[in-house]
Amino acid sequence: MSSTLHARGKPFLIQRIVDSLRRRYFARINRVNSFRGVYSTFADAQRAAPRFKPFGYELANSANWYRNKLNGISLEDYPMVYWLRDALESGRSIFEIGGHVGVAYYGYSKVLKYPPDLQWTICDVPSVVSAGENLAREQGRTNLRFIIHPTESEGADIVLAAGSLQYIDSPSLVEMIGAFRVRPRHVLINITPVYEGPSFVTLQYIGTAFCAYRIFNRTQFVGEFEDAGFSLVDSWQKPRTTRIPGHREKSFDYYSGFYFRAA
Ligand SMILES: C[S@@+](CC[C@H](N)C(=O)[O-])C[C@H]1O[C@@H](n2cnc3c(N)ncnc32)[C@H](O)[C@@H]1O
Repeated sequence: MSSTLHARGKPFLIQRIVDSLRRRYFARINRVNSFRGVYSTFADAQRAAPRFKPFGYELANSANWYRNKLNGISLEDYPMVYWLRDALESGRSIFEIGGHVGVAYYGYSKVLKYPPDLQWTICDVPSVVSAGENLAREQGRTNLRFIIHPTESEGADIVLAAGSLQYIDSPSLVEMIGAFRVRPRHVLINITPVYEGPSFVTLQYIGTAFCAYRIFNRTQFVGEFEDAGFSLVDSWQKPRTTRIPGHREKSFDYYSGFYFRAA
């Protein structure tokens, strides 16, 4: 009996060592939020994505992420809250792209007093939308609505995007706004990879999936809003290092936020 176990045990042990080394190697070269590759389009990035993990946020199983943000805001949220407070003096509707299960809706409410008639619409991927709807039901929130395509919204007085534009292929935010019946007066954007070099697409490993990820050129990014009739009122940066292995010239050390107002 013991010789059988021994005979079975050895390859089993070797297999476990190999698996453990493979896991360690994988973790080393695929740190969460790390980047790889430079591509022209989302389709090119998707074609190049490793096959051992799913592709895109919808398959990332992210519905329970960011839950800590529901209970309050952090330093990076303050510029958003500062300008949103102003915007809410006249604005009564918000369209938010990539708002997850309501991270900003719940988090900002800890420091902002929302008008009683405020309507907040979040557009996100289907799995997140479904989790957001469940949470809103549990919390008895009737002024928070979820959609999976921006065309389901007629637009809003205020548009928000925090850490989401980089994951969206098309339409761009300016195109979404252009298609709305209600034209926003305020556009608030936070935590967006915008730098001085040429725009490009890379791949980000988010732990459970690879995502195509757009890095924007600042002049182009701001120019698109200005061409669409918005003025840049304020912009800010937070420290965050971005390195694309093998592409040193595409490194930068800050993420950006913007407040645009309809001219
Ligand atoms: C990094 S999270 C940011 C979440 C939240 N706004 C925050 O500040 O913590 C990116 C968000 O973008 C959403 N997202 C990714 N691709 C999207 C798409 N094509 N359309 C809408 N939302 C998308 C994700 O599901 C996720 O909620």
